[in-house]
Amino acid sequence: MSDLWIGTSWKMTKTLAEARAWAEGLRDHLAGSAPAGVQPFVIPSFTATTAVAEVLGEESPILLGVQNAHWEDAGAWTGEVSVAQAKDAGARIVEIGHSERREHFGESVETTGLKVAAALRHGLVPLLCIGESAAVKEEGGSSAFILEQTRGALEGLTGEELSRVVIAYEPIWAIGETGRPATVEELVEPFAALGEVYAGRVAGLLYGGSVNLDNAADLLGIEHVSGLFVGRTAWRLEGYLELLRIAEDHAAARTG
Ligand code: PGA
Repeated sequence: MSDLWIGTSWKMTKTLAEARAWAEGLRDHLAGSAPAGVQPFVIPSFTATTAVAEVLGEESPILLGVQNAHWEDAGAWTGEVSVAQAKDAGARIVEIGHSERREHFGESVETTGLKVAAALRHGLVPLLCIGESAAVKEEGGSSAFILEQTRGALEGLTGEELSRVVIAYEPIWAIGETGRPATVEELVEPFAALGEVYAGRVAGLLYGGSVNLDNAADLLGIEHVSGLFVGRTAWRLEGYLELLRIAEDHAAARTG
């Protein structure tokens, strides 16, 4: 069985000092190896990418990511950072299409597809985020909506390319301060729909949105869920370490 992905995006938080302290704490806690059966990853703001890369070191079992990247390698794209530049700074994952970027920065199915292709071209893991709004959910259209978002962004990939993609299902209504945690019952159907198409074909099918220390174990128990993508709970290092411990227990129970 493949590893459980347990990662956090810090969104637009943390000073350099805070980023370094968190990364140093994690590095020292793990002492060179990831918890058995777990793939940790951390996605800081761009400003902290290099600092966190330096703290973790090149041989780190923790994958470092960026929260966005442009599909062109270089050029006149003021304010943007390319996948090539992110890789140069130490990133190995590119987060693509988070709902906050779709809502506020015009991220679309087309641009997420271009970014997935760019990440793959440079050998980085594309972490494609998908998720429906409360309105779509109320109409009963969740599964169709997220399948369309996913299909649109992954269209045309070879099986080998697809096998390097990680998908994170993050329903918008469950994300952040204004979201409410999803129940396991609400997530069974969307993961069944995603699993039917992508289980065994992609590197991971993650859940994200108000993951906390009380619901993490139950969320990992949902069929086809192979990891968690976490915001607030993991911004404190203690919260993230506890999530890693929960995942390690879950991985041990799966194999044992
Ligand atoms: P949250 O954020 O865990 O703070 O709800 C999740 C996300 O946006 O990925």
